[in-house]
Amino acid sequence: MLATDAGESRLKTDSNEFYCDVIHGLMQTPKRLPSKYFYDKKGDSLFEAIMMSPDYYLTTCEMEIFTRQANEIVGFLTGPDTAFELIELGPGNCAKSVHLLGALLAAKASFNYVPIDISENVIRELACFLPAAFPDLQCDGLVGDYFDTMAFRGLIPGKRKVVMCLGGNIGNMTIADANRFCSTLRGFLQPGDQCIIGFDLVKNPAVIKRAYDDGEGLTRQFNLNLLERMNRELAADFRVDHFDHYCSYDPLTGSAKSYLVCLREMVVHLPGASIPFEKDECIWTEISQKYTKSQVRQMAIDNGFTPTAEFLDTRSWFMDTIWTAV
Ligand code: AVI
Repeated sequence: MLATDAGESRLKTDSNEFYCDVIHGLMQTPKRLPSKYFYDKKGDSLFEAIMMSPDYYLTTCEMEIFTRQANEIVGFLTGPDTAFELIELGPGNCAKSVHLLGALLAAKASFNYVPIDISENVIRELACFLPAAFPDLQCDGLVGDYFDTMAFRGLIPGKRKVVMCLGGNIGNMTIADANRFCSTLRGFLQPGDQCIIGFDLVKNPAVIKRAYDDGEGLTRQFNLNLLERMNRELAADFRVDHFDHYCSYDPLTGSAKSYLVCLREMVVHLPGASIPFEKDECIWTEISQKYTKSQVRQMAIDNGFTPTAEFLDTRSWFMDTIWTAV
């Protein structure tokens, strides 16, 4: 069940890529760091805590969609020729997709499940959990970059595909990057294949702002952990207590953005590099883009899909949409 490139060379490549991305990002004006580096062991557990936090509504909303509407979703995925591969990009702990897997198995759908994650840990844990929870589930977890893995690992040629990208992960791309992602995804699919994508919707700006500046300070710790991670893994000398978390939400663009603010002038050292910081200079660390329903429908059409079905939570704060490749 577990396919992985794990090994020393992989680790070296990973930390080398991390180092190069950090140097590249911190040499830019304005400074920026890719949000994918939030997710080390400490970042993963802080993100788990964020998902449980009352201020961070996204997980609760999408969970409600999957617990209450899994059977309706199944109705759009299965047909007379039902056999398909259900590929999940970034499954995490699979907490939402288990409801869909259960409903598909109960409906006797003919499918196999392929979770793909960059984290070997995630796939290893699913390899333990899923066979115990669903003995009849045919599951093949893969470790790696989503598209490299879809291109080079053993997906079944000729079998219908349904690709899931939940959790609002598409929101961590700019709108331009999200379009590139959808168009690349379309390139892997045949007409009639489908995808299920979770989008966080625009809503009262105060609700969104609070989700990224929660009362427990979890998002603050999550953001600051990026500095700690660079100290741990790249031998950087960030004084974490001299930085703060700041987030903004612009209701006109739908972009929530997180920053690390440097509270005093300083020079930070990494092996082979010295990075000067002005007082109050910011590092942009994350975008969490919010969409209107019509923006989501247009994104489908612009990238070779037909918007097929939409599932919302009771507050209409989050939407999982099914698109069919044209
Ligand atoms: C994973 N992603 C959808 C989260 C979000 O809402 O942008 C990551 C996150 N960042 C801060 N809190 C949660």
